[in-house]
Amino acid sequence: MPDTTWWKRGIVYQIYPRSFQDSDGDGIGDLAGIRSRLDYLAWLGVDAIWISPIYPSPMADFGYDVADYCGIHPMFGSMEAFDSLVREAHARRLRVILDFVPNHSSDQHPWFRESRRSRDDPRRDWYIWRDPAPDGGPPNNWISNFGGPAWSYDEATGQYYYHAFLKEQPDLNWRNLEVRAAMFDALRFWLNRGVDGFRVDVIWHLAKDPDFRDNPPNPGWDSGQPEINRFLQRYSADHPDILDIVEEMRGVIDEYEDRVLIGEIYLPIDRLVAYYGRDLKGTHLPFNFQLIQAAWNARDIAALADEYERALPEGGWPNWVLGNHDKPRIAARVGEAQARVAAMMLLTLRGTPTMYYGDELGLGRVEIPAEAVQDPWERNEPGQGFGRDPQRTPMQWDETPNAGFTDGTPWLPLSQDHETRNVEALRRDPVSVLNLYRRLIELRRATPALRVGSFRSVCATETLLAYERESDGRRILVLLNLGRSEERLPPGAEAGRGRILLSTHLDRGDEVVSDPVLRAGEGLVVELD
Ligand code: GLC
Ligand code: MG
Repeated sequence: MPDTTWWKRGIVYQIYPRSFQDSDGDGIGDLAGIRSRLDYLAWLGVDAIWISPIYPSPMADFGYDVADYCGIHPMFGSMEAFDSLVREAHARRLRVILDFVPNHSSDQHPWFRESRRSRDDPRRDWYIWRDPAPDGGPPNNWISNFGGPAWSYDEATGQYYYHAFLKEQPDLNWRNLEVRAAMFDALRFWLNRGVDGFRVDVIWHLAKDPDFRDNPPNPGWDSGQPEINRFLQRYSADHPDILDIVEEMRGVIDEYEDRVLIGEIYLPIDRLVAYYGRDLKGTHLPFNFQLIQAAWNARDIAALADEYERALPEGGWPNWVLGNHDKPRIAARVGEAQARVAAMMLLTLRGTPTMYYGDELGLGRVEIPAEAVQDPWERNEPGQGFGRDPQRTPMQWDETPNAGFTDGTPWLPLSQDHETRNVEALRRDPVSVLNLYRRLIELRRATPALRVGSFRSVCATETLLAYERESDGRRILVLLNLGRSEERLPPGAEAGRGRILLSTHLDRGDEVVSDPVLRAGEGLVVELD
């Protein structure tokens, strides 16, 4: 029996809800907006949408500071709007994945307001409170991911609380069993409403060293890097106790049929794969961010694909991510031509692909003038290029003002070229990057070797990456030219005759070839004889 599990066979599409489609003219995307664009997503051919947080929030970190785990921020709509989004998505066979942010809440969450009331409040232990160091300073040297100390002093009760991110995002104490129970009920609340799973925010942060030891200095740090990197996160993250918590969380997911648990994890491959859990009882998909972090060179990418394949536990399903709301867009990193190669890579590697809204338009880095900056990280550590606004700008739909995103003033600027770079214009252009994405998605869906077949590296030079996917005797060769000149497989590595199924240039199809020459920045999918 072939494995038909949807999250193994399907493609996930991330929506940053503030930026997808505004329906009420406030310049900020919302649920009704997403609902009005479901037909586009069905046309594109993706299987699931993951929506970044839509819960009530003071928006200190744009929704990653949750003030109520079981509500909808009025800016995004109502619970009815949410229910109808899920209903209409399901009617189009689109699954809906929510973002779950368990590591920290907003400082405006009632739990934290109660927790900071007094040292013996019943909620005190729901967060992480510590006495000052003997000199009155913070309890240890841990640093916030957005720069500055990770501890804030509370005058009223004379203790510090810990926040791995902003001071408005106090970390919950997952060692407290009441916290777990309350958070698991929040998961059930959404599962009962029909959501198909969760992407769990910073899951590798959930438990810290019980002794709160100082982190050791990072010998590789230099001042061009974020302040958080000054220390190795040895004691503040990836604690072995996290696996127990993740297994409990998975237990909640498994109370329901056919749901998925995805974990956000920035760790080296050997640590990442631990999050599949013992006997695969952890996350179904620990997000694999290797493509986001890799230098754009074929040898390195081949090496990490091989390392990843080797490291996967027996039965663990792989996955690949090309972009998200935290990292510079792929076209900004590697340029427009190579972004097409990257698309082919993402959609032909073995494992569930996750794509980021707007990448299918080839959106690059959108310049954000100083007065338009929104991201708190950019405000904390300005001018160093850490800010995330450039990859969070509005989706571009058509030639109307603001590219059809809003009738009001968009919360972040659109890219300068939005009059030509938008869904409508690119849909009309048969060789656009948008049509490339669509064709790749279609091809992946129609080709078992790409969807579920095995993976084998064929060859990697500095600029040429070749791998083979195989299922039931059907062999697909993927050739990717990461360079600026013509490429072909080197002598000895030739793969034989086949038929071209797709070129990134969308101008060669059905050609029978033997070891074809790839043009600069060209990728080919070839079905071998
Ligand atoms: C995750 C989110 C990021 C957020 C942070 C704190 O990394 O993806 O956007 O700022 O967690 O919640
Ligand atoms: Mg709106």
